[in-house]
Amino acid sequence: MKILFISSEVAPFSKTGGLGDVAGALPAALAALGHDVKVVTPRYRELRDAARLTPTGQSLTVRFPAGEASGPILSARLSAHLEVLFLENEFLYGNRDGLYGDAWGEFGDNARRFGYLSVGALQAAQRLGFVPDIIHANDWQTGLVPVALQRGFRATPLAHAKSVFTIHNLAYQGHFPKSVMGELGLPWELYTAEGGLEFYDQVNFLKGGLAFSDALTTVSPTYAREIQAPEQGYGLDGLLRRRSHRLHGILNGIDAHEWDPQADPFLPARFGPHDLTGKAACKRELLKRFGLPDGDAPVFAIVSRLAWQKGMDLLLDVLPTALQADIRFVGIGTGEGPLEEGLKALQARHPKQMAFHIGFDPALSHQVEAGADFFLMPSRYEPCGLNQMYSLRYGTVPIVRATGGLVDTVEGGLDGNGILFETFHPAALLAAIRRALALYADPPRLGEFRRRGMEKDFSWDASARKYEALYADLMAE
Ligand code: ADP
Ligand code: GLC
Repeated sequence: MKILFISSEVAPFSKTGGLGDVAGALPAALAALGHDVKVVTPRYRELRDAARLTPTGQSLTVRFPAGEASGPILSARLSAHLEVLFLENEFLYGNRDGLYGDAWGEFGDNARRFGYLSVGALQAAQRLGFVPDIIHANDWQTGLVPVALQRGFRATPLAHAKSVFTIHNLAYQGHFPKSVMGELGLPWELYTAEGGLEFYDQVNFLKGGLAFSDALTTVSPTYAREIQAPEQGYGLDGLLRRRSHRLHGILNGIDAHEWDPQADPFLPARFGPHDLTGKAACKRELLKRFGLPDGDAPVFAIVSRLAWQKGMDLLLDVLPTALQADIRFVGIGTGEGPLEEGLKALQARHPKQMAFHIGFDPALSHQVEAGADFFLMPSRYEPCGLNQMYSLRYGTVPIVRATGGLVDTVEGGLDGNGILFETFHPAALLAAIRRALALYADPPRLGEFRRRGMEKDFSWDASARKYEALYADLMAE
């Protein structure tokens, strides 16, 4: 099959969260199954490995009523069989740092920036003579892809493609003033509440993806159920219920090469399920790196966007009590100011037990996963979550709230591989931390938890085959 995969971030080039990881790994897994896959993404100013980009010699122009936007198409190989195409444009991407916003908030021209990505990706395929069978878009930034496909590209070879739209996070929808309809040249007849782009008198890009795609997926079976009810539906549960026969929950995988404790170049020592000596060395180095005293105390960790979704406020509520026990807490994250400040203030009060780095640092995230004993994810909601899978692979027992993909990946109980808690309440999280302390005090049982987690296969292969089957069903329609 020929698959055009469109995403606003693609690791290792750009990444703010799990979307980047998925957009780097799933297309590679599909290519490894023998499919012809191309990924399209913006050429941001902040791009890792930018030296790998080469010109394709092609460029594109998108004619919006409010003025045209154009730029070259660049290319880089993600693997021998996978090409990533980058849309370059000085005014939309090149003239600033950040993917979606900066310290002042979301960029004011995001509708135009991601309108350009959505239409430009289809044009790029045309320019390069790539006629896809499947066009796979992701999250609100590419919500206009299926809309454009049904409208502007109706008379082109692309019109035969089937569209798939993946929801990585239903809460981020891309709401814009309705003037955007005119600015982007979107037909006003699409501005309806019932099956159109309108949402409480605004344009909703994500809704475009949900309403106009041939198939919808989300990143875990549990989240696929949760988003069909009001609590997690963010105003779109009605539409999702109506389209439930088209909605599939396919669990994310992890990049088993990037996240392999037996071969990870970021680690001071390597380890595997049958020899954890290296993990002890990683723990010592981690404590040193964070400036904490060495010792036997259990290390609890987080690597996270500091956001409401992630339950970091709940963690801040319980940490003062948890730190009364002899534990260490380390973490890395960026995000909402009050959460960053709350963590810094707590660190100032517990300098011998706690150290938190504000920042985004992939190398350090590997070292945290390897060196910690327990990994905390007290999420309010979690479409899939990747860090709990990284933790399991690195012999670090995850402590997670029973929601979304966390339920589908972490096994609780006495012979499980992690610790789950139900209620989003300080007492429930504290009880889970107490269970962790009891587990830590019982090394043989802890060893069994670790081994079971490390032996679990979360590689992309199985999930990629589910996408492949879905694509094949669509093509047969
Ligand atoms: P989400 O996409 O909601 O943020 P996921 O668990 O799916 O959650 O993915 C988060 C990804 O981003 C993981 O690869 C995680 O390691 C990475 N990440 C998050 N915060 C940081 C950080 N501060 N530094 C490095 N990597 C981070
Ligand atoms: C989103 C979700 C996260 C998921 C990721 C990749 O950012 O918040 O749970 O793992 O997308 O699908």
